[in-house]
Parts: sequence; structure tokens; C-alpha cells
Amino acid sequence: MTNFLSFNDVTDLDALIQEGLNAKHDPFADQALGRNKTIGLIFFNSSLRTRLSTQKAAQNLGMNVMVMNVGQDSWGLEMEEGIVMNADKAEHVREAAAVIGRYCDVIGIRAFAELKDREKDYSEQVLNQFKKYAGVPIVNLESATRHPLQSLADCITIEEFRVRKRPKIVLTWLPHFKPLPQAVANSFCEWMNHRDVELVVTHPEGYELAPEFVGSARVTHNQNEAFEGADFIYGKNWSSYRQYGQVLTQDPSWMVTMEKMRLTDNGKFMHCLPVRRNMKVTDEVLDSPRSLVVEEAANREWSAQAVLKEILKAI
Ligand code: CP
Repeated sequence: MTNFLSFNDVTDLDALIQEGLNAKHDPFADQALGRNKTIGLIFFNSSLRTRLSTQKAAQNLGMNVMVMNVGQDSWGLEMEEGIVMNADKAEHVREAAAVIGRYCDVIGIRAFAELKDREKDYSEQVLNQFKKYAGVPIVNLESATRHPLQSLADCITIEEFRVRKRPKIVLTWLPHFKPLPQAVANSFCEWMNHRDVELVVTHPEGYELAPEFVGSARVTHNQNEAFEGADFIYGKNWSSYRQYGQVLTQDPSWMVTMEKMRLTDNGKFMHCLPVRRNMKVTDEVLDSPRSLVVEEAANREWSAQAVLKEILKAI
């Protein structure tokens, strides 16, 4: 694996999931692989899980880790080409990525969608500029359109907890007052479309995801009907893709409650975290044995370790 930007960089998903499970069973088996190698984790946005799990995974593999918050720890970075740099950004990505690439053997980048210009966000400008100028492998730590390390952790979690060969998995939109990116929902669909599962996506009208991510999933506006017989409920808020970046409704009836979970077939609740309690999902669900949110977050370490191992093997 030379980069990990999206599902397209995965050659064998079953093997990658197994690699994650192997790492969970024996975290330090590949300590020698990363010796004298350095990963730089570059954050344009906040993080708890991604930052700590990727750092831990790299350390498990014997790597050195450097973390930088762009704009707080560093200069603001300009991404546009050929621009007169007379505004607030003091450094261009051409130099910054090239310099970081001299210090690091692998670079992880977190850069969310700005939710102002759909075309710009969906061009993945930040990720692609780093890929172009860094000269070392790039790992997506959540970009404008995707969160593949999360999706791999979700695959690992579903593999661990499924009781049926072909589980029914429901991605449900949840209410939120702030506009959030579509990245986690996009990515979840993209990865689940490559698994042997029955995938259903449910959301209010106007929240349709980009068709290339929805793939062969069944889409319904009837959340209760979607939940019937489900094995996994994957909750997430996202802003509108069509009316780009807008919050069209905050309808509280879309919150996941225990009453709704009872429609499932003893279904489990998943969410990438952070989650706003009693707005997206009730305390009762989160604090019940049905909730997998902590297990899912714990698996972020093993998804990162599986990916970094593949990249280190190719360096
Ligand atoms: N799920 C996830 O990526 O969490 P953080 O934003 O805290 O990294």
C-alpha cells in the first residue's frame, strides 16, 4: 500500500480486517517494522480518537511520532496555486508538504470539508496537495469526503459482533443543530458496499448522499421501517449534499431511542464519536449493552495499525 486515501487503496479488505484483528491479539508483533521510521500527524481540525489511536498504533509498530496542529502550532497553510499570498496564510503547501516529507517517512492528514463550496470540498484539495508535494505516503485521518480509518474500524467491529453471515446494517441520519460533513457517512457506505451485508440508508428528504457513495444501498425516508430486523444501527448526522452544507431540519423524532432499538433484531448501536447525548441518541441506548461505541473507538487503534503496517511494508 503506497497511500491510504480511500477504499480504492485497499487491495484485499478481508486481509486488512484480519490484520487489524491480529494486531489486537498481539499489538507488538511488528515492533521492528517501524524502527527508525517517523510518522507526522498533521491536524487542520480537532480530534480525540484519530490523534491518539494513530499515535498508539505507530508506537506499537516501533515508529517515532510527531503531531502538529496547523495554524496553532504552525503557520497557516495556503493551498491555492499561483496565488498572491497577501492574506492570512503565511506558508504555501508546496514548501510545507515538501519539508514535512523530509522529516517524516509517512504523513497523516486531517482536513475536514469547509461546507461552503461542494466542488472544492469534493476535489479533496488538501489531501491531494500533500500527496503531490510531500513525496512520502499519505494517510487520510478524515478528509473532506471520507474517513477510511473509521470505516476500517467499523468493519472490524461488525466482524467481531455479527451473529449472522449477512447482517442487516442501517445507516441512519441523526438530528444536529450544526452543519457537519458527509465524510463518515460517505465512507461507511463506500466500505459497506464492499461487504456481504444488507445495507439500508435512512434520512429525511433532502439529505441524500452523493450517489457514488450510496452505491447499491436501499434508501428510505421511513426510519422505523428501516430499523425492523436490523443487526446494526449506525448513527451519524450529516448536512445536506444537494443544498450543500445546509441544515434542513433538526427533527428530534430522528433521535435513536430504546423504543426504536426494540424494532431491530437485538441490534447493536454504533457511532464514530463524539456523540451529543439525548440529541442524537438517548442515554438509555448509549449506556446499554446494545451500544458498541467504545469498542468501535478502541478498534481505531487496530485499523490504524493494520494500515500503517501495510504502508511500512511497501516503503
Ligand atoms: N471518530 C473520530 O474520528 O473521532 P475524532 O474526531 O475524535 O478523531
